[in-house]
Amino acid sequence: MITSNQQGESPRMAVDTLGRPLRALRVSVTDRCNLRCQYCMPEEEYVWLPRETLLTFEEIVRLTNIFTSLGVDKVRITGGEPLLRKDLPALISLLRQNSKIKDIAVTTNGILLKEQAQSLYEAGLHRVTVSLDTLKADRFKALTKRNTFSQVLDGIDTVRAIGFQDLKLDTVAMQGINDDELIDLIEFGKDVDGEVRFIEYMDVGGATDWSADKVLSCESILQILSQHYGLIEPIIEDSWAPAKRFRLSDGTRFGIIASTTLPFCSTCDRSRLTADGLWYLCLYAKTGIDLRQPLRDGATEKELRALLESTWQARADRGAEERKELERVDTRGRFVEIERLRQDPHLEMHARGG
Ligand code: GTP
Ligand code: 5AD
Ligand code: SF4
Repeated sequence: MITSNQQGESPRMAVDTLGRPLRALRVSVTDRCNLRCQYCMPEEEYVWLPRETLLTFEEIVRLTNIFTSLGVDKVRITGGEPLLRKDLPALISLLRQNSKIKDIAVTTNGILLKEQAQSLYEAGLHRVTVSLDTLKADRFKALTKRNTFSQVLDGIDTVRAIGFQDLKLDTVAMQGINDDELIDLIEFGKDVDGEVRFIEYMDVGGATDWSADKVLSCESILQILSQHYGLIEPIIEDSWAPAKRFRLSDGTRFGIIASTTLPFCSTCDRSRLTADGLWYLCLYAKTGIDLRQPLRDGATEKELRALLESTWQARADRGAEERKELERVDTRGRFVEIERLRQDPHLEMHARGG
């Protein structure tokens, strides 16, 4: 049975050293992926997480329920590619039994959506975000090393036909790679009633090809779009979400996630649970807190809750801001070297959740 607080304590909100609440939890359900995106996992083979270490759905739900007793009300399922995890709709159904979760979303590359969208919807999934970096099939192949672009489009069509609300399309905007498609992507978003968000290329683990000159900044994105659309109005909202939102004169909304040039660590209420139960307090954290071990060693809910609470209360992470500060002394380079990624796959973006 799923109870959010078996010990009966009153719900409380954990707050870190910078006054940031524990609110959004990103749960990676697999480190595997069926694409090989240049900015995330460009190699064919990786050191994969051992199968026996992957959390079962019951373990994920148990941990999530403790997180929600400390303030989490938003859960995003990520990977790797989360739809590769067998029976994902069953996990969504289990999570939906926790009424403290107000929003359950999935971030997917869309390849398997056509087959799975209906069962995810029936299981109670609220929202889908599809990664979409290009509208050109040949460019998709060059960027992802796979020839499956039409499946992504089919997936997006299926999501619309089923009636999911608040579809989002995430584009990692890269100089010299897809900067000529920003307008086409906005137009595509209008056609499918999805909100496009341009994400600045980040120097996270796994982005082994990252260099500053490939980053298309928020400023450049706005410049390109305003040359075509004219006035772009910022939407003023009191939000902890990473995306800044804007409105075109015809009312179309879009977002920019400017993590590289305008980091938003001061409003970061997110943390990440890897598929094997490590808890990362920052996208750029070099180490995570092992929750699987105490869970499997029989820790009580109260003990796990105390561990989560004290860990969050001690949190001071501001990884993207620290990366940016390196620019002042001209030492911003790779976040981690490839050798180190091989030694510790948890440093990879695909392990800790995109
Ligand atoms: P919603 O607004 O709830 O739909 O979700 P979201 O804004 O968290 O967006 P999503 O999960 O789709 O994240 C989009 C991208 O933003 C991610 O893939 C990351 O590239 C980036 N991002 C999300 N969260 C963080 C974060 O905490 N730190 C940094 N630096 N980047 C993030
Ligand atoms: N820069 C920006 N976003 C990235 N993602 C993965 N790697 C990077 C990176 N280097 C995010 C993208 C993608 C999701 C799966 O992870 O948003 O759509
Ligand atoms: Fe949060 Fe770390 Fe991203 Fe900053 S870099 S917004 S602290 S996850």
